[in-house]
Amino acid sequence: MPLIAPSILAADFSKLGEEVRKVSEAGADFIHIDVMDCIFVPNITIGPSMVRSLRSYSRLPFISHLMITHPENHVKAFAEAGSDVIEVHIEATQKHVLETIKGIQKLGKKAGLAVNPPTPIQEAFPYLGEIDLLLVMSVNPGFGGQSFMPEVLPKIRKAKDEMERLGSRVPVEIDGGINMENCALATRAGADILAAGTSIFRAPDMKAAIASLRDPGSKD
Ligand code: DX5
Ligand code: ZN
Repeated sequence: MPLIAPSILAADFSKLGEEVRKVSEAGADFIHIDVMDCIFVPNITIGPSMVRSLRSYSRLPFISHLMITHPENHVKAFAEAGSDVIEVHIEATQKHVLETIKGIQKLGKKAGLAVNPPTPIQEAFPYLGEIDLLLVMSVNPGFGGQSFMPEVLPKIRKAKDEMERLGSRVPVEIDGGINMENCALATRAGADILAAGTSIFRAPDMKAAIASLRDPGSKD
């Protein structure tokens, strides 16, 4: 059964703390927090101060998904704000990938590496023995509510095969357009964590939505 990471980008920002508490009580395993700087992606969301403000609303691990340029300059602030996992994009860190991963781990946090749809998964292979989590994007980052790109699913299998070859076992998160129709596909492809925004926060019943993403058969 996959773990579920609701993406609060789809939540009601006017009462974000309450939304984080509600979704935590509805059975989530993580809180997925999308951070955008309007440079790396064409949108602006939230910074470390919001992460800090949300920390007291849930005991669940916070995944801060940094869609920003020069993330290496900001990981300390997100660590101190209460993130448990800090995900940086391989496309944003380029020659600083290993330093950035090590920097996050030195701060006592888990380091995740995110890969955009156009980026070949092989580019992440050199780091599979170093990271704590691999994030395969199933939309081009920047907005919630986009359509899922099934063409990225083989990337998960390729990464898992490479992990097996290396003898490393890193959980794989998938993020973008995940819903009741495609969640089983993602899980069968090997995804361990499903990040989902619209399909949870826009659902009439959050608890049922999370349960269905975890086990699509359960809703019948
Ligand atoms: C997109 C973000 C995703 C997004 C997911 O750039 O990284 O986390 O908010 O939302 P849905 O599930 O609505 O696509
Ligand atoms: Zn995200």
